[in-house]
Amino acid sequence: MTLLEIHRLSLDLEVDGELRRIIHDVTLELDDGEAVGLVGESGAGKSMTSRAVIRLLPRGARLGGEVEFDGRSVPAMDARALRAYRSRDVAMIFQDARSHINPVRTIGAFLTEALVERGERKADAVTVVSELLETVGIHDVPHRLRQYPHELSGGMLQRVMIAAALAIRPRLLLADEPTTALDVTTQAEVMAHLDRQRRGRGLAMLFVTHDLELAAAVCDRIAVIYAGCLVEECPASTVHDRVLHPYTAGLLASRPSATRRAARLAAIPGRPQAAYEIAPGCPFVARCPYVVDLCRTTRPPLRLIGASRVACHRAEELAGQLSVGRFSGEERARA
Ligand SMILES: Nc1ncnc2c1ncn2[C@@H]1O[C@H](COP(=O)(O)OP(=O)(O)O)[C@@H](O)[C@H]1O
Ligand SMILES: [Mg+2]
Repeated sequence: MTLLEIHRLSLDLEVDGELRRIIHDVTLELDDGEAVGLVGESGAGKSMTSRAVIRLLPRGARLGGEVEFDGRSVPAMDARALRAYRSRDVAMIFQDARSHINPVRTIGAFLTEALVERGERKADAVTVVSELLETVGIHDVPHRLRQYPHELSGGMLQRVMIAAALAIRPRLLLADEPTTALDVTTQAEVMAHLDRQRRGRGLAMLFVTHDLELAAAVCDRIAVIYAGCLVEECPASTVHDRVLHPYTAGLLASRPSATRRAARLAAIPGRPQAAYEIAPGCPFVARCPYVVDLCRTTRPPLRLIGASRVACHRAEELAGQLSVGRFSGEERARA
């Protein structure tokens, strides 16, 4: 069953008195219990897309299109409905836990707050969050509950954030780069806890990351966003052998792998563009090794090809030929 439906989402933000387009056109669905990875480079609009789902946007933001959760329009919710939605249906895990946890309140107060606010007894709330802390690998719980955020490491605090998100028993988790700020070993541990808890509870998750391979490992489907446009959506299982958009192939090429040498480590040529910078054609035109004239003039619509949706004029023609090497330099000279 469809739980979340994002339909033709657009977003404008005010920058220096001018409205700037941050998201062009994002259409995405999540089923109950399904995990979708929203992947793209920095500035692509991943955070803003996930924040639109919970309506946590900068002041003056103008939202277009529709976001429906379980058939209810999120943009149309009044203050009371929005509060209920945020305290029961959907929970967000932010990249930087420290700046989202009140520094002058104890971990216990932070964790139980939402439950107490919605009318649950304090003692019951403490029991619930204590069990949750154990499940995300935090021991000596009574002591932890009395501590303040500055007494915990970044990894510990992110586990607290995950426990807080699970505590409200939401149906949807929004996880915005939940492990990016952590060191590599801690990243793997925290990710494993998040993944296990999400699966165990059958929660849907929108997992925001710049790391395509990580997304493919923990999600059912992948949605790739470039300059505020959704360019490809595909089953996670096909990411390694059949991506259809040149940008997705570029993302795959940008990650170190055991089979490619670090010296040939590819990055996509050029820099990521912001949504407000792109011309009328394909958003990826300035960096794409496969560009033809049509790409410069006409924005490709998302089209269904097999189990994927892709916004590339040449998708059929290039299917199976998109080369990771093409992005790593050795083929670009010949392109
Ligand atoms: N508060 C804001 N006001 C204006 N522009 C913003 C604001 N926050 C983010 N942006 C811009 O919106 C675009 C998308 O940002 P974001 O969703 O944070 O990207 P991502 O999470 O993919 O790195 C970027 O170009 C960024 O500079
Ligand atoms: Mg972000």
